[in-house]
Amino acid sequence: MSNAANGTAPGAGPSPGDRPIRAHVTGWGRYVPSQVLTNADLEKMVDTNDEWITERTGIKTRHIAEPGAANSDLCLEAARIALDDAGVDPAELDIVIVGTLTPDMPFPATACFLQAKIGATRAYGMDLSAACSGFVYSLSVADALIRAGRGKKALVVGAEILSSVVDYTDRSTCILFGDGAGAAVLTECPEGDGVLSCHLHSDGNLWKLIYCPGGGTLHPYSPEMVEQRLRFIRMAGNETFKHAVLRMVEVSNEALTRNGVTIDDVKLFIPHQANLRIIQVVGKRLGIPEERVFVDLEKYGNTSAASIPIALAEAKAQGRFAAGDLVLVVAFGGGLTWASALMRM
Ligand code: COA
Repeated sequence: MSNAANGTAPGAGPSPGDRPIRAHVTGWGRYVPSQVLTNADLEKMVDTNDEWITERTGIKTRHIAEPGAANSDLCLEAARIALDDAGVDPAELDIVIVGTLTPDMPFPATACFLQAKIGATRAYGMDLSAACSGFVYSLSVADALIRAGRGKKALVVGAEILSSVVDYTDRSTCILFGDGAGAAVLTECPEGDGVLSCHLHSDGNLWKLIYCPGGGTLHPYSPEMVEQRLRFIRMAGNETFKHAVLRMVEVSNEALTRNGVTIDDVKLFIPHQANLRIIQVVGKRLGIPEERVFVDLEKYGNTSAASIPIALAEAKAQGRFAAGDLVLVVAFGGGLTWASALMRM
């Protein structure tokens, strides 16, 4: 079960060169809540220790949203910075997409709350559910909509309050996840730069590797559902690890091949920030030196759909890429889903 957007697989969008229009990312923003959960804090909550967490994951701290905070509040903070960076007024936006697995409510879409909060009065908004691949999927949809002439300016956000679905009595998962938001502004631009291609895949047969059973139609909210802890993330860590490595390498190579470039042409590789060991193995298999692989998970943990846009905004702030550089992003998550995007900045 596989698909691609603007790629070579069935259902692919136009090839580069077919259309005069592309989407260029003109602004980045990120926001993490101020409250920090350290490995030392987790030692007091579950049977774990800093050494184990650091060795197995690379994570030192994660940021946790205040009680009562909505996902769209985090989106708003990141979006304001991205719009400012792009010099775009919210009223100019045509499209608002939020990639998330922790929306404000089942409906309306978090994107609609964000639209109202930021004053994107003429935009249309929607959420996209692809777990940790949510941002790259959303980027791909916004890029395709701009290429298709369904708008000229898009705000794409990946945002999560994962602390709302993390079981803080389960040491195998609670050490991993954090809250945050990252945003990008996409603007119609001439052919030649911007988002070069996006590649999306999923395999629903493997849904049981990482999922959250409760809160949907199968297990609606009920006292039993809460008692059985169905509202929390469940994960088969080891199996997920193996698939993550395999698929992230595969879909990275797909983006390179599609664009006739090699990993040596990529200035910065930004993988989903789930586990340092996954990132290191993927980097090694792709043959990219460590200094061109971006890592910030020691500070934020795995923020799911927010991980890549937070990393991109941080990389930009650190001057890790400049105009004209090729940046490759690759995501992997529940679904299973995986995706890559190659961008000329
Ligand atoms: N502290 C201490 N020990 C822990 C622990 C913790 N927080 N969590 C698990 N353990 C224990 C296990 O109980 C197990 O003990 P046992 O050998 O006595 O049974 C041992 O550590 C090894 O567990 P295992 O699950 O094999 O560890 P691992 O090396 O696979 O690391 C993960 C676990 C979750 C860190 C790792 O599998 C991972 O990151 N997987 C991918 C997760 C991911 O990418 N998810 C998101 C996709 S978007």
